Amino acid sequence: MLSVEGLSRSFGSLQAVRDISFRVHPGEIYGLLGPNGAGKTTTISCICGLLRPSSGRIELHGTDLGSQPIAFKRRIGVVPQEIALYGDLSARENLSFWGRLAGLRGSALQRRVTAVLETVGLAERSREPCRKFSGGMKRRLNLAVGMVHEPQLLLLDEPTVGIDVQARINILDVVRDIARRGTAVLYTTHYLEEAQELCDRIGIMDKGKIFAEGDLEHLKGLVGEGQILTLRGGFAADALRPVVAADDTVRIVSLEDGAAMLDIPPHRGEVSSVLSRILGHGLSIDDISIQEPNLQSVFLKLTGRELRD
Ligand SMILES: Nc1ncnc2c1ncn2[C@@H]1O[C@H](COP(=O)(O)OP(=O)(O)OP(=O)(O)O)[C@@H](O)[C@H]1O
Ligand SMILES: [Mg+2]
Repeated sequence: MLSVEGLSRSFGSLQAVRDISFRVHPGEIYGLLGPNGAGKTTTISCICGLLRPSSGRIELHGTDLGSQPIAFKRRIGVVPQEIALYGDLSARENLSFWGRLAGLRGSALQRRVTAVLETVGLAERSREPCRKFSGGMKRRLNLAVGMVHEPQLLLLDEPTVGIDVQARINILDVVRDIARRGTAVLYTTHYLEEAQELCDRIGIMDKGKIFAEGDLEHLKGLVGEGQILTLRGGFAADALRPVVAADDTVRIVSLEDGAAMLDIPPHRGEVSSVLSRILGHGLSIDDISIQEPNLQSVFLKLTGRELRD
């Protein structure tokens, strides 16, 4: 199990990560979901030993990163946000290089290299210099590098950015498969859908903090039982606010000029009565949608801002 306790990291006066704690169990996929600058890469960099934490404690199955860095690092695999491959080397050579660094040798190394090439679907192209690969193929090779030595913990930093749907599906399948074999997976993303689909538990991160964590049901429960009514139109926030505030069962999830998200209680007819009250005040509404609580409304409620896919 990965255990992160009270992790903080500053760059000068900027607190990129502020006192976060979480655990990732064997076989579990834990997602850190947050927008640009949330602190995801900083967190990953501290866990893989690239950055020294300002404070906090990081352990994997009781091995402490601070006092036993070499033993710790041998047990983890990292798939960095920026692709890190040697372009003149083939896929097989890249994997052999990283496998050797992780302590694999001889036929055990060759077996693992062949196995991960199969897993990520690159076996047939394994002898070409990887600079000839497409973006999606490089991403897949980057992923293979992180898992060649069968780590107990795999750190994945936005591994699906900038690739097509097919390559993304392939990567998500590979990640699920690794977790099924018992590896603990820490996965960062700013894609709501990906977090929702892939992760067993999600930590919602913004401005260096984890605001809430849990499985999807738990997170949805934080927003309430009700439905989410989204309104768009030509209205002013100041005009809508008092109309909504008059009904104390309705909560404002977010409100700005022209866009509102309201949390409506789950009673029958409640949505239509809220809507007719708003329309009765002559507010101009162009677009209405009603949804069950989702990760987007959870994110909005907890952080006060929207995270768009
Ligand atoms: N080496 C550094 N020196 C100074 N500031 C840094 C450094 N690395 C990160 N930061 C700052 O720390 C904050 C968190 O950055 P980080 O890269 O961890 O975010 P992120 O969640 O990974 O974002 P993204 O989704 O854009 O990758 C940002 O404000 C960033 O500018
Ligand atoms: Mg990042």
